[in-house]
Amino acid sequence: MTDIQSRTFIVTGANSGLGLETARRLASVSSRDTVVLACRDLGKAAVAQRDIQSTSGNVNVAAMELDLSSLASVRGFVARYRETVLRPIDALICNAGISGGSRQTVDGLDPVFETNHLGHFVLVTTLLGEMTPTGRVLSVTSDMHEPPGRKLVWPGTEALASPGRGARQYSYSKLCNLYFTYELARRLRAAGSSIQAAAFNPGLMTETNFASMPRPVGAVLKRIFSTRVGSLDASSAALARLAESADEVDISGQYFDRGALVPARSSDLSYDLGNAIELWDASERLSGVCF
Ligand SMILES: NC(=O)c1ccc[n+]([C@@H]2O[C@H](COP(=O)([O-])OP(=O)(O)OC[C@H]3O[C@@H](n4cnc5c(N)ncnc54)[C@H](OP(=O)(O)O)[C@@H]3O)[C@@H](O)[C@H]2O)c1
Repeated sequence: MTDIQSRTFIVTGANSGLGLETARRLASVSSRDTVVLACRDLGKAAVAQRDIQSTSGNVNVAAMELDLSSLASVRGFVARYRETVLRPIDALICNAGISGGSRQTVDGLDPVFETNHLGHFVLVTTLLGEMTPTGRVLSVTSDMHEPPGRKLVWPGTEALASPGRGARQYSYSKLCNLYFTYELARRLRAAGSSIQAAAFNPGLMTETNFASMPRPVGAVLKRIFSTRVGSLDASSAALARLAESADEVDISGQYFDRGALVPARSSDLSYDLGNAIELWDASERLSGVCF
């Protein structure tokens, strides 16, 4: 069992929005715990680090550079973590995400696919060996994995990884988060590991940078998508709770929806085993990482 008095949490994209508030909550549980803010901009990460240290009273908040849109950066993060931090990880929260962006990444891939899925795929699979036996991998997805209107049809990973696909790329990347989570849970179980993997949907949060908009627009959107509204407060509380309650119930292979800490059901398409395996195998090929 993990030493409850000194745990380590890593949160990607922890300098703003859901990642920042979840990291703050985790740092506030116990000042013996360490929270690593894994961010692409070290300047922003340092501001978040000081903010969390002063509001939580926990000095064990570290900032480390991680750009999920670059495989070299992800590998560099893992190498630095192994060399300098040397602490087993209790929970790895894959939170960072974008909805669009530049034409292609330094690896020649679609930026939404690489940032939201492939970067996290490499991060998690290469850090599994650094996790505690009861460690948790939590992937932040979205209920936009099942967008309103026309249903998604799985186009295959090679197509999703190619730059320039546009419109529904965010929804597909959030579907990838679910395929990854469910397949990781299956593979960990099959390997006899007690590390758990689960997915979390925070709901529509107009308070973060991601969906920032003028207040009246936010109000209209919340009315239109009333069944999809979340709140930064409730969702960060639920996500932090899932991360730090490792000894309570087995959450592996489950999907959690906003503040409710009981498993929910994701879209029918997200349970397609063939697609999950295809994504996993192609992600290994694209990244050169093998589980
Ligand atoms: N807000 C919503 O309505 C909503 C709804 C459902 C799901 N979500 C999910 O919630 C998660 C958090 O989003 P948020 O709402 O908190 O938005 P946010 O405030 O924009 O936070 C996103 C975080 O991801 C980081 N990030 C972006 N690209 C990165 C990269 N290449 N490498 C490392 N970090 C990167 C951002 O860093 P920078 O500050 O440097 O850009 C930022 O820290 C996302 O996965 C999103 O898909 C959000």
